[in-house]
Amino acid sequence: MCLVLVITCCSVYVSLFVSSSWSNIKTNSTTETTPRRHDVPQRRLTLPPRNSSSNTAGFVHMGKTGGSTISSLLQNGCNSLSGSCERSTNLTDSPVSKWVEHYYHVPDFWRLPQANHRSFIVSIRDPYDRTVSALLYHHPENTKFYQLQQTTRQQKLGPLAYQCFPTLEAFASLLQRGNSTDCNYPYRHNVIEPSDCSELACATIHGKVRFFTHLFFNYRNIVETKLLLSENNDNGIVTEKQRQVYVLRQEHLWEDWTALNKLVATADDKSNWKEAAINNEANKFQSHRNITGLNVPVTREISQQGRHKLCLALETEYIAYFRLLQVAINMNDNDVADCQRIARQNCPNLNFAVMLRTKKS
Ligand SMILES: *[C@@H]1O[C@H](CO)[C@@H](O)[C@H](O)[C@H]1NC(C)=O
Ligand SMILES: *[C@@H]1O[C@H](CO)[C@@H](O)[C@H](O)[C@H]1NC(C)=O
Ligand SMILES: *[C@@H]1O[C@H](CO)[C@@H](O)[C@H](O)[C@H]1NC(C)=O
Ligand SMILES: *[C@@H]1O[C@H](CO)[C@@H](O)[C@H](O)[C@H]1NC(C)=O
Ligand SMILES: *[C@@H]1O[C@H](CO)[C@@H](O)[C@H](O)[C@H]1NC(C)=O
Repeated sequence: MCLVLVITCCSVYVSLFVSSSWSNIKTNSTTETTPRRHDVPQRRLTLPPRNSSSNTAGFVHMGKTGGSTISSLLQNGCNSLSGSCERSTNLTDSPVSKWVEHYYHVPDFWRLPQANHRSFIVSIRDPYDRTVSALLYHHPENTKFYQLQQTTRQQKLGPLAYQCFPTLEAFASLLQRGNSTDCNYPYRHNVIEPSDCSELACATIHGKVRFFTHLFFNYRNIVETKLLLSENNDNGIVTEKQRQVYVLRQEHLWEDWTALNKLVATADDKSNWKEAAINNEANKFQSHRNITGLNVPVTREISQQGRHKLCLALETEYIAYFRLLQVAINMNDNDVADCQRIARQNCPNLNFAVMLRTKKS
């Protein structure tokens, strides 16, 4: 029964996991394939929430935003799949790597509301690009080109989930509710019901179908319900949780990564984090698997009309995304303007100026 929720998602995030952690994972499932080191199996968590300390940072890996590349540069990062959460930092590690204590991706997103870290680093990418990438990545016709390791369950569900969406154009043409997030999809998250393709498309784009992992865990979900949530303080007044947010934009990943390291470096770091370490990281960064240029059967091709529909449906995603950008400590006005430029290019029919004017907290 739980298996429906067991959806693999990600490609590669390697160094967070020492090899021994794989053998420690107990699988209670006959359909689960043996995980390779490079593919992290997602299963329902049974671990209790682990405590986190306030003076460390949590790294939040939004799906399809280059987070796996970043995770390959993080030496620690406790998460559900790591065997032990003992921290072992090396003086020569990058300042960010030393700072990050917990790593939050699909299996651990649920822990975010309770996490104690005062600071969070979130990997982000333009919502249109992220959404399209998430949708095409799991397309059954594309998965073998990405060498995506899937569970048998996923392989079985893939064709059902995508039977309404042979192409991106087909998906977009089914979106008929403008910017509204209401869908007539009265099913549980773990149900894929393709009898009404239009409603399935609506439910898919608005994060109501668990199979589409990275659309399910979208900006709205993570930002509004897990990261920047409100909480009742003692007086019963709802206040925004005091959390410091930093972002790493996929569009400027290396630039943001190095700048963030400089920003959070302590005096100790400055003397220990040497040029050699940076170069070493740059090499790792460049050798990380890059699937951007891969030729796959189902492409990003879309008509102008289709793009407009998709963009309208993504309005709420853009609102959450720009909210995150606006609270991010490491983003200045130029950085935000650049994100806005990309957004305008992707979605010329949306009004981003209005979104940016809405409250800066
Ligand atoms: C595996 O799952 C079954 C059914 O959910 C349960 O009865 C059994 O105890 C589980 N076995 C282990 C080793 O967890
Ligand atoms: C988690 O850590 C906080 C602060 O260090 C502490 O007050 C709290 O008791 C801890 N909670 C658990 C469950 O260990
Ligand atoms: C720290 O990292 C350096 C460079 O990667 C390595 O040579 C050294 O052995 C590491 N030290 C420890 C204690 O792991
Ligand atoms: C949807 O569009 C309407 C009309 O343009 C607008 O008033 C409303 O604020 C939009 N809703 C969202 C969630 O963006
Ligand atoms: C990945 O490949 C694309 C297209 O081939 C290229 O534009 C991009 O810069 C590459 N990204 C990295 C991080 O190397």
